[in-house]
Amino acid sequence: MTVMASSVRGARPADAPAIAAIYDAAVARGGMTLDTHPITATLYAEQMAASDHLLLVVEVAGRVRAWGRLVPWSAKHGYRSSAEASVFVALDAVRQGHGLRLLNALVEAAPGLGYHHIVGRVWTENTSSLAICLEAGFEQVGVQREVGRVGGRWVDVTILQRIVPSDTPPA
Ligand SMILES: CC(C)(COP(=O)(O)OP(=O)(O)OC[C@H]1O[C@@H](n2cnc3c(N)ncnc32)[C@H](O)[C@@H]1OP(=O)(O)O)[C@@H](O)C(=O)NCCC(=O)NCCS
Repeated sequence: MTVMASSVRGARPADAPAIAAIYDAAVARGGMTLDTHPITATLYAEQMAASDHLLLVVEVAGRVRAWGRLVPWSAKHGYRSSAEASVFVALDAVRQGHGLRLLNALVEAAPGLGYHHIVGRVWTENTSSLAICLEAGFEQVGVQREVGRVGGRWVDVTILQRIVPSDTPPA
């Protein structure tokens, strides 16, 4: 098997359509996100420009094959040190290490953006996502039972957390 070199890098505006395509394939597959409609590429381009967001991609042979994001957990000021992480890998590129690599990169970058607490919200049946969160040092907080409804049935969501060291907590 040929192993292609891959790199994790910051997302660029030109990556937005590829990021959207990866996400929309996960929406269409089902069981991975509670979004049920495609998200426009414009949203990702806007998030790249926001200083409290971080969007990273994995590029393999010039193609974006996975992306990960840190976004503010809440608009309430007291939550300003908390972010939510998400990672999405192209359906034909899973189990090649991209997801865990991205999640670890997000955790490493979090203090630089002023984040101290990272939240993961995972559709409880999504064993791959739970697995990479646990591999990346997240701990399970609990399960929100029947918090979502998709495809005519209730969905449980597992909440995970990861505390990261921050030398200079915000005032
Ligand atoms: C969840 C997801 C990001 C995982 O990414 P991935 O690149 O396939 O995972 P990795 O290859 O980095 O896996 C790293 C390790 O996690 C564990 N793991 C990953 N998937 C697993 C699975 N289905 N079952 C058990 N362990 C698993 C393994 O220990 C794996 O290491 P190994 O392959 O050497 O055994 C990917 O499946 C995905 O994009 N799913 C759809 C979107 C999604 O669910 N995102 C999460 C919501 S935020």
